[in-house]
Amino acid sequence: MPGAFEGETVTRRRFMEGVTHGAGLIAAASFGLPALGFAIGPIFQRQPFSWQIIGTPDDFTETSYVTKVITIVEGIGEAGKSIAYVRKRDPAIDDIGPQDKWDKYIALSSRCMHLGCPVRYVEAAARFICPCHGGVYNFRGQVAGGPPVRPLDRFYTYEPPPGHRGHGYVYLGPRYSVNSELQRFSPRDPGEPLDGIGQYLYPSRPSTAVRPSISNLPLPPAVPGTGS
Ligand code: FES
Repeated sequence: MPGAFEGETVTRRRFMEGVTHGAGLIAAASFGLPALGFAIGPIFQRQPFSWQIIGTPDDFTETSYVTKVITIVEGIGEAGKSIAYVRKRDPAIDDIGPQDKWDKYIALSSRCMHLGCPVRYVEAAARFICPCHGGVYNFRGQVAGGPPVRPLDRFYTYEPPPGHRGHGYVYLGPRYSVNSELQRFSPRDPGEPLDGIGQYLYPSRPSTAVRPSISNLPLPPAVPGTGS
């Protein structure tokens, strides 16, 4: 080989080039990889959730929604608060969608499923109205008009039965999304439809894919100070 001693398979010049490039790569990676991890790490970090008490059964009726201030991100004060509209489940109205122990109270997110503006419940019309682009949702939270692509998101709710810890209180759990048939899906972002192939085109973010199975939801903790 030209430029190499007999028996060598690589020239010294090429060897030194390789060493220089390798050292440069290691130096770049030592700066770049931590920065990259810092930037995209939160995407894969599971958001913790905890059950929160939103009232007692007597606070709610089947015929109207009660506005509840809830905590969706803990530890950041007012910025982590949001609104949920809550009522008791009415079998005559809520005759589609899941009907299990996690759904005895209907808790709707106030976040519009078009671009995320806060919707407002209008009692006289029994509708949720979005002020941004005219999105309208019916009493069940399904889209009744305007640009929203799916019904309002919901939260798991739970009322512990007699003899169980936390009995006498209504708990609100993690958020989930629904399609137009009110079937449950892992939480999605606004603007992501869930009907048809939408559920495959818009998979849940790792940070918000809360629970793979509803049966894995841990029950609420005991109510502080009550022993129940
Ligand atoms: S954000 Fe609600 S209709 Fe556009």
